[in-house]
Amino acid sequence: MKFLFIVNRHCIPLVQKRCQNLESAIARTHPFSSTAGNVCGESTFSIFSQQKTGGTGTLPHTASIKTSMRKRRFLYTTVDEKEVAKFRSLFESWWDVNGEFQALHSLNDLRVPLIRDGLVNQFGSQSLVSSQPLTDTVILDVGCGGGILSEPLARLGATVTGIDAASENISVAREHASHDPLLQKRLKYICTTAEELLSNEEGGFDAVVASEVLEHVSNVESLVATCAQLTKPGGSVFFTTINKTWLSYALAVVGAEEIARVVPSGTHDWNKFIPPQDLQGFLHACNCQTRLVHGMIFNPVTQRWFWGTPKACNYAIHAVKNEEATSNT
Ligand SMILES: C[S@@+](CC[C@H](N)C(=O)[O-])C[C@H]1O[C@@H](n2cnc3c(N)ncnc32)[C@H](O)[C@@H]1O
Repeated sequence: MKFLFIVNRHCIPLVQKRCQNLESAIARTHPFSSTAGNVCGESTFSIFSQQKTGGTGTLPHTASIKTSMRKRRFLYTTVDEKEVAKFRSLFESWWDVNGEFQALHSLNDLRVPLIRDGLVNQFGSQSLVSSQPLTDTVILDVGCGGGILSEPLARLGATVTGIDAASENISVAREHASHDPLLQKRLKYICTTAEELLSNEEGGFDAVVASEVLEHVSNVESLVATCAQLTKPGGSVFFTTINKTWLSYALAVVGAEEIARVVPSGTHDWNKFIPPQDLQGFLHACNCQTRLVHGMIFNPVTQRWFWGTPKACNYAIHAVKNEEATSNT
């Protein structure tokens, strides 16, 4: 009993002091720091107690410290819960090629070769004629949804980690991949965010991909910076997203959602669209040099995508992180 009292008296204040120091350190690193909701429903990473001793000096029981540790997370997040909720509610449709995500399925015709060719040219390890030209390439797919892009990248030989903020999406992705034995060793899914992954000291990916995700987050600049940090020096980042122009309002919001109905109504918020020059600026600030920006055009009649010079609506961007960049930039 006496021993426990001594432990409580001396160790708990030390632990609390440590937690407070960590909180202040995080607040300094992430000035917008907020408490992340448990979006994934499978809390994985660092958690710090917010409990402090009151003026009376009453010490909380160790168990309550542990509980509050589990509940509170002082981690910045780019998750916009309203946006994630849209995709969570559609989780059963991810693999219906004629359903709500038809346009994402057909977007693979452009984005898979873009990523494949970009990486083969960059790392030059495997020939494009090989059926698995991305062998030995490690890719992170941020906001992977049901795995529509992660799977074909893994089939090209890459080792892929797909992450998404919605646990429903991750369950669907895992279930779908489980039917292909080829994917078992090469593809894994985690319900988490890019920020959480980074805070867990993950990183060093050959390539980080976030396709059709930037226009759904709360802070694009921050997500771009996190993706750059997760990329190894000399590695690649790929984004596909939507420009902020009157044409993108007409085509991506009114046309696609309300007229052609190829995308569920309410999917896009025009205010969240990103001009390519802004995205390039964010990348440049993170030591990433833009290699290419291509316009992507959707034909609602054929339901197919094709490359085009205008970037007034959808576009893809490939940037390479400077070799001399440190792992923190
Ligand atoms: C339009 S879907 C794109 C899915 C996939 N990239 C594709 O193109 O097939 C956007 C996905 O991003 C996820 N998402 C949105 N914000 C996120 C964030 N901050 N971190 C991780 N995932 C996020 C959503 O849950 C959703 O599954």
